[in-house]
Amino acid sequence: MEQQNVILTGFMGTGKSTVGRHLAELLGCEFADTDVLIEERHGSSVAAIFAEEGEPAFRRLEATVAQELAQRQGLVIATGGRLMLDEANAALLAATGPVFCLTADPHTILARLREDGAQRPLLATPDPAQRIAGLLAERGPAYAAFPQIDTTGKTPAQVAKELQMLLDKTVLSVAYPQGSYNVVVGEDLLPSLTSLADISGPVVVITDTNVGPLYAAQFGPAAGVITIPAGEQHKTLQTVQFLYDELLAAGISRQATVVALGGGVVGDVAGFVAATYMRGLDFVQCPTSLLAMVDASVGAKTGVDMPQGKNLVGAFKQPQAVLADISTLRTLPPAEFASGMAEVIKSAIIGDPQLFLRLEAAPALVTPEDRIHWADVADFVTRSIEVKRSVVEDDPFEKGLRAVLNLGHTFGHAIEQASGYGIRHGEGVAMGLIAATTMSAELGHADESLTARIASVLIRSGLPTRIPHFLSADVLLAAMGSDKKKANGRLRFVLPRDIGDVIIVDDIPETTVVGVLRACGAS
Ligand SMILES: NC(=O)c1ccc[n+]([C@@H]2O[C@H](COP(=O)([O-])OP(=O)(O)OC[C@H]3O[C@@H](n4cnc5c(N)ncnc54)[C@H](O)[C@@H]3O)[C@@H](O)[C@H]2O)c1
Ligand SMILES: [Zn+2]
Repeated sequence: MEQQNVILTGFMGTGKSTVGRHLAELLGCEFADTDVLIEERHGSSVAAIFAEEGEPAFRRLEATVAQELAQRQGLVIATGGRLMLDEANAALLAATGPVFCLTADPHTILARLREDGAQRPLLATPDPAQRIAGLLAERGPAYAAFPQIDTTGKTPAQVAKELQMLLDKTVLSVAYPQGSYNVVVGEDLLPSLTSLADISGPVVVITDTNVGPLYAAQFGPAAGVITIPAGEQHKTLQTVQFLYDELLAAGISRQATVVALGGGVVGDVAGFVAATYMRGLDFVQCPTSLLAMVDASVGAKTGVDMPQGKNLVGAFKQPQAVLADISTLRTLPPAEFASGMAEVIKSAIIGDPQLFLRLEAAPALVTPEDRIHWADVADFVTRSIEVKRSVVEDDPFEKGLRAVLNLGHTFGHAIEQASGYGIRHGEGVAMGLIAATTMSAELGHADESLTARIASVLIRSGLPTRIPHFLSADVLLAAMGSDKKKANGRLRFVLPRDIGDVIIVDDIPETTVVGVLRACGAS
């Protein structure tokens, strides 16, 4: 397989060479430094070339080195400060792999330049820090063409590690009528929030009492953090009011970006606040539960519950970016992890037969220790998001098609509601997937064996498949009638015909529904 190069650019003193060497070691590949190559070829230092032959001669040498390196692959390349600001050089090298621009604040740059002891004309000016700030401002727009990695306060080894993570991630673009956003799936993404989500203004993190203490510090000291109590019972207008008050008290203006750090509850509440505070702020989702990664954070639905029912007030709010940092799942309670797996399995049934085969073949994901197959988990998340993306892109405002995403949910919601929410969403969905498949077989749309296949995958993920007997079919049927997803007062179901093939069926007789509920365990 062809190997890409990784190209580092940025102002002097941002650590390109040192970071580059560390990165090459991490990736197990060769390192090249354009200034060093030029010095070796020419037999004199960059400063001497400048002094004796002038800048244009040096730029010609740079162009030659750029052309040579563009013929090679699998290199980490640290480029001279201005090499990539030349359009021809940039076009040649950028075609061979990703480019990252290292940045740092002027004082850090000055300190690093003084430390390395090299003779720099810049250091001889009366106020070097101000001179550096001036040059940064001048070149900033040109460097802005590349993804920025802030190195201030980080060791070269830390920056290299961050770059390695960025190279390992998967990026999916989700389109909606007025634009698009990236969903990034990978490990240890949170420290790179601003570069990955392309945020320039102030950051306000909204998180909950479980997730905040574990992960909010990863955004660095500059981010403001507002914490709400964990739990669905706090997905209310009271919490929204509390958040408005906190934002106003902190003097947050429209330039700020709201970052949701947490499960679906935090995402829904923070998204609603971002949609409405000052008529809307930029919004970034950092989902930390499996359910939020594969479902809640993509599709732009936000909102809160009312005493009358769940999710009754809300708004569509497209995020600027979604960062699904898989490493946060290590602390997710096992039952929550299983709950998210229900949505992964649902996605596979809706639109990814290959994912379903993977789930059938994967080792059982029942205990927390089983969750060490992180590459698998990242892949499950990515594929589930791809299924959701393909559906929401075709129906951004939920006019119809999106209904397929409700596979298992008409039953699931009724089970959750009738149990007084003692049964988790994912558990209800798991039972609902079996009920929908049973109904499909009953109506002749699917083969009987499909139910057993789906049940086996659910069980291996630690999910229930039978509706508890204490729930009666009549109560469940009544609960379905109050589900806002019913079409014109008639019951509508999404039914699997096979893995990767679902249909929407309206007007199912109540007697059929009751029969299916009883067959699936209800009294
Ligand atoms: N907007 C949408 O499209 C959409 C889609 C599906 C679900 N939802 C909503 O999402 C909510 C459910 O989401 P959820 O299951 O993530 O619930 P949740 O947000 O309540 O999170 C579940 C629990 O796990 C904790 N937690 C989350 N991440 C953690 C981590 N990494 N480590 C330790 N603890 C962690 C939370 O604090 C919470 O106690 C519901 O309100 C539902 O309506 C929205
Ligand atoms: Zn769901």
